[in-house]
Amino acid sequence: MASLHEQIGELRSHFLSDLKEASHSKDLENLKVKYLGKKGPIQALMLELKNCNSTERPLFGKLINDLKEELLSHCDHSLARLKQTELNDRLKEEWLDATLPGRASHKGRLHPITQVLNRVVDILIGMGFSVQLGPDVDTDYYNFEGLNFAADHPARDMQDTFYLAEQESLLLRTHTSNVQVHAMENLAPPIRIIAPGRCFRNEDISARSHVFFHQVEGFYIDRNVTFADLFATMDEFLSKLLGEKVETRYRPSYFPFVEPGLEVDVKCISCKGSGCRICKHTGWLEILGAGMVHPNVLKKGNIDPEVYSGYAWGMGIERLTMLLHDIKDIRLFTNNDLRFLEQFS
Ligand code: DAH
Repeated sequence: MASLHEQIGELRSHFLSDLKEASHSKDLENLKVKYLGKKGPIQALMLELKNCNSTERPLFGKLINDLKEELLSHCDHSLARLKQTELNDRLKEEWLDATLPGRASHKGRLHPITQVLNRVVDILIGMGFSVQLGPDVDTDYYNFEGLNFAADHPARDMQDTFYLAEQESLLLRTHTSNVQVHAMENLAPPIRIIAPGRCFRNEDISARSHVFFHQVEGFYIDRNVTFADLFATMDEFLSKLLGEKVETRYRPSYFPFVEPGLEVDVKCISCKGSGCRICKHTGWLEILGAGMVHPNVLKKGNIDPEVYSGYAWGMGIERLTMLLHDIKDIRLFTNNDLRFLEQFS
Protein backbone atom coordinates (compact mmCIF):
# COMPACT_ATOMS: atom_id res chain seq x y z
CA MET A 1 0.00 0.00 0.00
CA ALA A 2 2.80 2.34 0.87
CA SER A 3 4.25 1.81 -2.58
CA LEU A 4 0.98 2.73 -4.28
CA HIS A 5 0.84 5.93 -2.21
CA GLU A 6 4.37 6.63 -3.28
CA GLN A 7 3.58 5.97 -6.90
CA ILE A 8 0.55 8.26 -6.75
CA GLY A 9 2.58 11.03 -5.07
CA GLU A 10 5.32 10.76 -7.68
CA LEU A 11 2.85 10.75 -10.53
CA ARG A 12 1.15 13.83 -9.15
CA SER A 13 4.39 15.79 -8.76
CA HIS A 14 5.54 14.81 -12.27
CA PHE A 15 2.23 15.88 -13.63
CA LEU A 16 2.29 19.18 -11.74
CA SER A 17 5.74 20.08 -12.97
CA ASP A 18 4.74 19.18 -16.56
CA LEU A 19 1.64 21.29 -16.09
CA LYS A 20 3.75 24.28 -15.13
CA GLU A 21 5.66 23.96 -18.40
CA ALA A 22 2.51 23.90 -20.54
CA SER A 23 2.19 27.33 -22.11
CA HIS A 24 -0.14 26.52 -24.95
CA SER A 25 -3.47 24.71 -25.18
CA LYS A 26 -1.79 22.23 -27.53
CA ASP A 27 0.69 21.32 -24.74
CA LEU A 28 -2.22 20.60 -22.44
CA GLU A 29 -3.95 18.37 -24.93
CA ASN A 30 -0.69 16.40 -25.14
CA LEU A 31 -0.35 16.30 -21.36
CA LYS A 32 -3.83 14.92 -21.03
CA VAL A 33 -3.03 12.11 -23.46
CA LYS A 34 0.31 11.45 -21.81
CA TYR A 35 -1.11 10.95 -18.28
CA LEU A 36 -4.71 9.95 -18.83
CA GLY A 37 -4.52 8.22 -22.21
CA LYS A 38 -4.86 4.48 -22.75
CA LYS A 39 -1.11 4.02 -22.65
CA GLY A 40 -0.60 6.44 -19.76
CA PRO A 41 0.48 5.76 -16.12
CA ILE A 42 -3.03 6.04 -14.66
CA GLN A 43 -4.28 3.33 -16.97
CA ALA A 44 -1.23 1.26 -16.05
CA LEU A 45 -2.11 1.58 -12.36
CA MET A 46 -5.67 0.51 -13.11
CA LEU A 47 -4.37 -2.61 -14.75
CA GLU A 48 -2.31 -3.38 -11.69
CA LEU A 49 -5.48 -3.54 -9.59
CA LYS A 50 -5.92 -7.06 -10.88
CA ASN A 51 -2.96 -8.09 -8.75
CA CYS A 52 -4.42 -6.72 -5.51
CA ASN A 53 -6.41 -8.83 -3.16
CA SER A 54 -10.12 -8.25 -2.86
CA THR A 55 -9.93 -6.22 0.37
CA GLU A 56 -7.32 -3.80 -0.98
CA ARG A 57 -8.81 -3.47 -4.41
CA PRO A 58 -11.72 -1.04 -3.61
CA LEU A 59 -9.46 1.26 -1.62
CA PHE A 60 -6.73 1.25 -4.26
CA GLY A 61 -9.31 1.69 -6.95
CA LYS A 62 -10.68 4.76 -5.19
CA LEU A 63 -7.21 6.28 -4.76
CA ILE A 64 -6.44 5.86 -8.46
CA ASN A 65 -9.82 7.23 -9.46
CA ASP A 66 -9.35 10.26 -7.20
CA LEU A 67 -5.99 10.92 -8.80
CA LYS A 68 -7.53 10.59 -12.24
CA GLU A 69 -10.25 13.09 -11.33
CA GLU A 70 -7.71 15.46 -9.83
CA LEU A 71 -5.50 15.43 -12.95
CA LEU A 72 -8.51 15.80 -15.20
CA SER A 73 -9.78 18.83 -13.35
CA HIS A 74 -6.27 20.40 -13.43
CA CYS A 75 -6.18 19.84 -17.17
CA ASP A 76 -9.63 21.26 -17.76
CA HIS A 77 -9.04 24.35 -15.64
CA SER A 78 -5.71 25.14 -17.26
CA LEU A 79 -7.07 24.41 -20.70
CA ALA A 80 -9.94 26.87 -20.22
CA ARG A 81 -7.53 29.51 -18.89
CA LEU A 82 -5.05 29.07 -21.75
CA LYS A 83 -7.73 29.09 -24.38
CA GLN A 84 -9.07 32.37 -23.00
CA THR A 85 -5.57 33.91 -23.05
CA GLU A 86 -5.03 32.71 -26.58
CA LEU A 87 -8.36 34.16 -27.67
CA ASN A 88 -7.50 37.49 -26.03
CA ASP A 89 -4.14 37.54 -27.80
CA ARG A 90 -5.78 36.82 -31.13
CA LEU A 91 -8.43 39.49 -30.61
CA LYS A 92 -5.71 41.98 -29.73
CA GLU A 93 -4.03 41.22 -33.04
CA GLU A 94 -7.26 41.44 -34.99
CA TRP A 95 -8.25 44.65 -33.26
CA LEU A 96 -10.46 46.90 -35.32
CA ASP A 97 -11.24 50.55 -34.73
CA ALA A 98 -14.89 50.77 -35.66
CA THR A 99 -14.74 54.57 -35.42
CA LEU A 100 -12.29 54.89 -38.33
CA PRO A 101 -13.89 56.33 -41.47
CA GLY A 102 -14.77 53.64 -44.04
CA ARG A 103 -12.78 53.21 -47.22
CA ALA A 104 -14.66 55.00 -49.98
CA SER A 105 -15.56 52.78 -52.92
CA HIS A 106 -14.90 54.25 -56.34
CA LYS A 107 -18.29 55.08 -57.77
CA GLY A 108 -18.82 55.31 -61.49
CA ARG A 109 -20.86 58.07 -63.06
CA LEU A 110 -22.53 58.81 -66.35
CA HIS A 111 -20.58 60.57 -69.07
CA PRO A 112 -21.50 64.29 -69.28
CA ILE A 113 -22.87 63.75 -72.79
CA THR A 114 -25.10 60.92 -71.51
CA GLN A 115 -26.25 63.12 -68.63
CA VAL A 116 -27.28 66.00 -70.90
CA LEU A 117 -28.78 63.62 -73.47
CA ASN A 118 -30.86 61.95 -70.74
CA ARG A 119 -32.04 65.34 -69.49
CA VAL A 120 -33.14 66.43 -72.97
CA VAL A 121 -34.91 63.11 -73.55
CA ASP A 122 -36.63 63.22 -70.13
CA ILE A 123 -38.01 66.70 -70.77
CA LEU A 124 -39.35 65.73 -74.21
CA ILE A 125 -40.90 62.49 -72.94
CA GLY A 126 -42.63 64.66 -70.33
CA MET A 127 -44.01 66.76 -73.21
CA GLY A 128 -45.57 63.74 -74.93
CA PHE A 129 -42.85 62.57 -77.34
CA SER A 130 -41.77 58.95 -77.51
CA VAL A 131 -38.29 57.69 -78.29
CA GLN A 132 -37.50 56.04 -81.64
CA LEU A 133 -34.00 54.81 -82.40
CA GLY A 134 -32.61 54.58 -85.91
CA PRO A 135 -29.56 52.84 -87.38
CA ASP A 136 -26.10 54.47 -87.24
CA VAL A 137 -25.27 52.71 -90.52
CA ASP A 138 -27.92 53.60 -93.05
CA THR A 139 -28.46 54.01 -96.78
CA ASP A 140 -28.17 57.17 -98.82
CA TYR A 141 -31.95 57.09 -99.16
CA TYR A 142 -32.72 57.44 -95.43
CA ASN A 143 -29.93 59.90 -94.74
CA PHE A 144 -30.35 62.13 -97.83
CA GLU A 145 -32.78 61.27 -100.57
CA GLY A 146 -35.84 60.62 -98.39
CA LEU A 147 -35.10 63.99 -96.78
CA ASN A 148 -35.30 65.88 -100.07
CA PHE A 149 -31.58 66.06 -100.76
CA ALA A 150 -31.55 65.52 -104.56
CA ALA A 151 -28.79 63.27 -105.91
CA ASP A 152 -26.78 66.23 -107.14
CA HIS A 153 -28.07 68.65 -104.54
CA PRO A 154 -25.30 70.97 -103.37
CA ALA A 155 -26.66 70.67 -99.83
CA ARG A 156 -24.98 67.27 -99.60
CA ASP A 157 -21.70 69.14 -99.49
CA MET A 158 -22.78 70.69 -96.18
CA GLN A 159 -22.17 67.37 -94.53
CA ASP A 160 -19.01 65.43 -95.25
CA THR A 161 -20.06 61.83 -95.26
CA PHE A 162 -18.27 58.60 -94.36
CA TYR A 163 -19.28 56.14 -97.08
CA LEU A 164 -18.71 52.46 -96.41
CA ALA A 165 -16.29 51.28 -99.04
CA GLU A 166 -17.88 47.96 -100.00
CA GLN A 167 -21.22 49.39 -100.91
CA GLU A 168 -21.51 52.96 -102.13
CA SER A 169 -25.04 53.56 -100.90
CA LEU A 170 -24.23 52.57 -97.30
CA LEU A 171 -22.96 55.31 -95.04
CA LEU A 172 -22.58 56.40 -91.43
CA ARG A 173 -25.52 58.69 -90.80
CA THR A 174 -24.57 62.35 -90.76
CA HIS A 175 -27.58 63.33 -88.64
CA THR A 176 -30.42 61.74 -86.66
CA SER A 177 -32.88 63.12 -89.25
CA ASN A 178 -32.74 59.67 -90.90
CA VAL A 179 -35.16 58.53 -88.18
CA GLN A 180 -37.85 60.80 -89.69
CA VAL A 181 -37.84 58.69 -92.86
CA HIS A 182 -37.92 55.39 -90.93
CA ALA A 183 -40.73 56.71 -88.71
CA MET A 184 -42.93 57.62 -91.68
CA GLU A 185 -42.44 54.09 -93.06
CA ASN A 186 -43.33 52.41 -89.79
CA LEU A 187 -45.89 54.67 -88.14
CA ALA A 188 -49.08 56.45 -89.21
CA PRO A 189 -49.88 60.03 -88.18
CA PRO A 190 -50.15 61.39 -85.60
CA ILE A 191 -46.39 60.81 -85.22
CA ARG A 192 -44.73 62.45 -82.24
CA ILE A 193 -41.21 61.13 -81.77
CA ILE A 194 -37.73 62.06 -80.66
CA ALA A 195 -34.59 60.28 -81.86
CA PRO A 196 -31.44 60.52 -79.75
CA GLY A 197 -28.28 59.02 -81.21
CA ARG A 198 -24.79 59.22 -82.60
CA CYS A 199 -23.85 60.87 -85.90
CA PHE A 200 -20.66 60.87 -87.96
CA ARG A 201 -18.98 63.37 -90.25
CA ASN A 202 -15.77 63.23 -92.15
CA GLU A 203 -14.26 66.38 -90.70
CA ASP A 204 -10.92 67.39 -89.27
CA ILE A 205 -10.91 66.88 -85.52
CA SER A 206 -10.41 70.17 -83.74
CA ALA A 207 -11.47 71.93 -80.54
CA ARG A 208 -14.88 72.59 -82.09
CA SER A 209 -15.60 69.63 -84.37
CA HIS A 210 -15.28 65.88 -84.19
CA VAL A 211 -15.89 62.91 -86.46
CA PHE A 212 -18.68 61.69 -84.22
CA PHE A 213 -21.14 63.44 -81.95
CA HIS A 214 -24.70 63.15 -80.68
CA GLN A 215 -27.96 64.71 -81.74
CA VAL A 216 -31.56 64.60 -80.64
CA GLU A 217 -34.07 64.87 -83.46
CA GLY A 218 -37.72 65.77 -82.92
CA PHE A 219 -40.53 65.10 -85.40
CA TYR A 220 -44.25 65.81 -85.15
CA ILE A 221 -46.80 65.08 -87.89
CA ASP A 222 -50.54 65.54 -87.52
CA ARG A 223 -53.46 67.43 -89.06
CA ASN A 224 -53.23 71.23 -88.77
CA VAL A 225 -49.75 71.46 -87.28
CA THR A 226 -48.56 75.05 -87.73
CA PHE A 227 -45.66 77.32 -87.06
CA ALA A 228 -47.38 78.33 -83.82
CA ASP A 229 -47.07 74.72 -82.58
CA LEU A 230 -43.38 74.70 -83.46
CA PHE A 231 -42.71 77.98 -81.61
CA ALA A 232 -44.73 76.92 -78.57
CA THR A 233 -43.00 73.53 -78.34
CA MET A 234 -39.50 74.97 -78.77
CA ASP A 235 -40.12 77.74 -76.21
CA GLU A 236 -41.53 75.26 -73.70
CA PHE A 237 -38.71 72.76 -74.26
CA LEU A 238 -35.94 75.37 -74.04
CA SER A 239 -37.34 76.95 -70.90
CA LYS A 240 -37.54 73.52 -69.25
CA LEU A 241 -33.95 72.84 -70.33
CA LEU A 242 -32.34 76.21 -69.63
CA GLY A 243 -34.62 77.91 -67.13
CA GLU A 244 -38.02 79.58 -67.02
CA LYS A 245 -36.77 82.97 -68.23
CA VAL A 246 -34.79 81.91 -71.30
CA GLU A 247 -35.41 84.15 -74.30
CA THR A 248 -35.59 82.62 -77.80
CA ARG A 249 -34.94 84.07 -81.25
CA TYR A 250 -35.95 82.49 -84.56
CA ARG A 251 -33.92 83.23 -87.70
CA PRO A 252 -34.64 81.98 -91.22
CA SER A 253 -32.25 79.28 -92.37
CA TYR A 254 -32.02 76.51 -94.93
CA PHE A 255 -32.25 72.73 -94.60
CA PRO A 256 -33.56 70.70 -97.59
CA PHE A 257 -36.08 68.76 -95.48
CA VAL A 258 -37.93 71.75 -93.99
CA GLU A 259 -39.67 74.74 -95.52
CA PRO A 260 -39.39 77.26 -94.08
CA GLY A 261 -36.28 76.37 -92.12
CA LEU A 262 -35.16 78.09 -88.96
CA GLU A 263 -32.19 78.52 -86.70
CA VAL A 264 -33.21 78.85 -83.05
CA ASP A 265 -31.06 80.96 -80.73
CA VAL A 266 -31.34 81.57 -76.98
CA LYS A 267 -30.20 84.65 -75.07
CA CYS A 268 -26.73 83.77 -73.76
CA ILE A 269 -27.14 81.76 -70.54
CA SER A 270 -23.79 83.03 -69.30
CA CYS A 271 -23.89 86.82 -69.80
CA LYS A 272 -27.69 87.11 -70.19
CA GLY A 273 -27.21 88.93 -73.47
CA SER A 274 -24.66 91.59 -72.61
CA GLY A 275 -21.95 89.80 -74.63
CA CYS A 276 -19.19 87.48 -73.48
CA ARG A 277 -16.61 85.00 -74.73
CA ILE A 278 -19.12 82.11 -74.76
CA CYS A 279 -21.57 83.88 -77.10
CA LYS A 280 -18.69 85.46 -79.01
CA HIS A 281 -20.01 88.84 -77.88
CA THR A 282 -23.27 88.50 -79.81
CA GLY A 283 -25.45 87.98 -76.73
CA TRP A 284 -27.06 84.93 -78.40
CA LEU A 285 -26.32 81.19 -78.60
CA GLU A 286 -27.28 79.09 -81.60
CA ILE A 287 -29.02 76.09 -80.06
CA LEU A 288 -30.91 74.10 -82.72
CA GLY A 289 -32.19 73.87 -86.28
CA ALA A 290 -35.91 73.48 -87.00
CA GLY A 291 -38.64 74.02 -89.54
CA MET A 292 -41.92 72.88 -91.03
CA VAL A 293 -41.53 69.48 -92.67
CA HIS A 294 -41.11 69.88 -96.45
CA PRO A 295 -44.08 68.54 -98.51
CA ASN A 296 -41.63 66.47 -100.57
CA VAL A 297 -40.48 64.68 -97.40
CA LEU A 298 -44.07 63.87 -96.45
CA LYS A 299 -44.79 62.62 -100.00
CA LYS A 300 -41.75 60.33 -99.96
CA GLY A 301 -43.00 58.99 -96.62
CA ASN A 302 -46.45 58.29 -98.15
CA ILE A 303 -48.10 60.99 -96.09
CA ASP A 304 -50.43 63.37 -97.93
CA PRO A 305 -49.16 66.95 -97.48
CA GLU A 306 -52.67 68.23 -98.29
CA VAL A 307 -53.97 66.52 -95.16
CA TYR A 308 -51.02 66.49 -92.80
CA SER A 309 -48.32 68.91 -91.81
CA GLY A 310 -45.60 68.84 -89.21
CA TYR A 311 -42.48 70.30 -87.73
CA ALA A 312 -39.04 68.90 -87.04
CA TRP A 313 -35.97 70.01 -85.18
CA GLY A 314 -32.49 68.75 -84.44
CA MET A 315 -29.90 69.70 -81.87
CA GLY A 316 -26.29 68.79 -81.15
CA ILE A 317 -25.66 67.46 -77.66
CA GLU A 318 -21.91 68.11 -77.57
CA ARG A 319 -22.48 71.76 -78.40
CA LEU A 320 -25.22 72.08 -75.79
CA THR A 321 -23.06 70.37 -73.13
CA MET A 322 -20.16 72.70 -73.98
CA LEU A 323 -22.42 75.72 -73.53
CA LEU A 324 -23.94 74.45 -70.29
CA HIS A 325 -20.57 73.67 -68.67
CA ASP A 326 -18.32 76.21 -70.43
CA ILE A 327 -16.20 73.46 -72.03
CA LYS A 328 -13.84 74.80 -74.65
CA ASP A 329 -12.66 71.65 -76.41
CA ILE A 330 -14.96 68.95 -77.82
CA ARG A 331 -12.08 66.44 -77.71
CA LEU A 332 -12.35 66.34 -73.90
CA PHE A 333 -15.48 64.21 -74.31
CA THR A 334 -13.55 61.39 -75.95
CA ASN A 335 -10.16 61.58 -74.18
CA ASN A 336 -11.43 59.57 -71.19
CA ASP A 337 -9.43 61.69 -68.77
CA LEU A 338 -10.86 61.03 -65.30
CA ARG A 339 -9.83 64.51 -64.10
CA PHE A 340 -12.33 65.87 -66.62
CA LEU A 341 -15.03 63.21 -66.26
CA GLU A 342 -15.07 63.29 -62.45
CA GLN A 343 -16.29 66.88 -62.49
CA PHE A 344 -19.71 65.74 -63.67
CA SER A 345 -21.38 63.93 -60.78
N1 DAH B 1 -30.15 67.55 -89.40
C1 DAH B 1 -29.68 68.89 -89.16
C2 DAH B 1 -28.17 68.88 -88.95
O1 DAH B 1 -27.64 67.85 -88.68
C3 DAH B 1 -30.36 69.48 -87.96
C4 DAH B 1 -31.79 69.80 -88.22
C5 DAH B 1 -32.16 71.04 -88.72
C6 DAH B 1 -32.78 68.87 -88.00
C7 DAH B 1 -33.47 71.36 -88.98
C8 DAH B 1 -34.12 69.16 -88.25
C9 DAH B 1 -34.44 70.42 -88.75
O2 DAH B 1 -35.09 68.28 -88.04
O3 DAH B 1 -35.74 70.73 -88.97
O4 DAH B 1 -27.58 69.92 -89.01
